[in-house]
Amino acid sequence: MAERDGEVSAFAEFVGARAVVTGGGQGIGAAIAAGLADRGAHVLVSGRRQATLDAVCASITAGGGSAEGCAGDITDPDHVHRLMALAGGSEGVIDILVNNAGIPGPTAPLVEVTLAEWEETIAVNLTGVFLACKLAVPYLERAAHGKIVNIGSVTGKQPLVNRAPYAAAKLGVVGLTRTLAHELGPSGINVNVISPWLVGGERLDSVIATMAKERGVSTDELRAEMTAGTAFKRTVSEAEVVEMTLFLSSTASSSITGQDINVSAGAVMY
Ligand SMILES: NC(=O)c1ccc[n+]([C@@H]2O[C@H](COP(=O)([O-])OP(=O)(O)OC[C@H]3O[C@@H](n4cnc5c(N)ncnc54)[C@H](OP(=O)(O)O)[C@@H]3O)[C@@H](O)[C@H]2O)c1
Repeated sequence: MAERDGEVSAFAEFVGARAVVTGGGQGIGAAIAAGLADRGAHVLVSGRRQATLDAVCASITAGGGSAEGCAGDITDPDHVHRLMALAGGSEGVIDILVNNAGIPGPTAPLVEVTLAEWEETIAVNLTGVFLACKLAVPYLERAAHGKIVNIGSVTGKQPLVNRAPYAAAKLGVVGLTRTLAHELGPSGINVNVISPWLVGGERLDSVIATMAKERGVSTDELRAEMTAGTAFKRTVSEAEVVEMTLFLSSTASSSITGQDINVSAGAVMY
């Protein structure tokens, strides 16, 4: 185990590890990239906007970590090829792939969803995961313990009215994960999904404020109503998703593969 500032890190194996985080320019992905870098991994952060990648990498390097950005669209095979080649470095090894890039897709009844909206939602949330996994596998196979962590959602397992394309894509990620876990098991690669429920933070606060105003209720009342079905009566924190990602990226989870792990404050238990 490595010691840093007198503390023993439970994730010492990330020192020297090479990781890819898709959609790492903001939100949960940026927090995961920082978490991995903080524990010693060199992190390749991808997303379409160069400026957000630059900001995340600057913040990581300012904190003593190591990161670089690779801008492009996760649905573009040429970009994904470039990303994996860059991440693999001179040895051609990737230890950790976190498939986090995602879009909410349209909010509308299925009969009003256009084919273009459907295809875009599936392309980013499911085909992007397919491409990243497919093109990362040769690099992951050269790692001692390759890890794939897909960021899904409880949506899909649990219906969310007016969000059918997102629900279908996210449940598709669960199916992909289970099958890929078997295909890559003989190579010692773990493949798992994290299914978060609503993740709290500034963006959710502003959505709740807008909705509360529209309905003429207080934000506290609305928040209590929204979280009533959870065991903990609250949303999930970004840090909780990060911690689960670190666990599933570590050798502590070596026997865990093909799993779909809810980080949901008890909103979903299956
Ligand atoms: N927030 C929640 O409550 C919640 C709950 C459950 C699951 N999730 C899942 O968690 C993941 C992250 O969510 P978040 O809330 O952090 O989302 P977010 O803030 O909207 O970030 C999504 C990231 O994905 C990137 N991205 C989107 N489309 C892309 C594309 N075509 N190619 C490459 N990158 C793309 C975005 O960067 P660019 O725009 O620069 O490309 C952005 O960095 C998503 O998969 C989401 O479905 C979130």
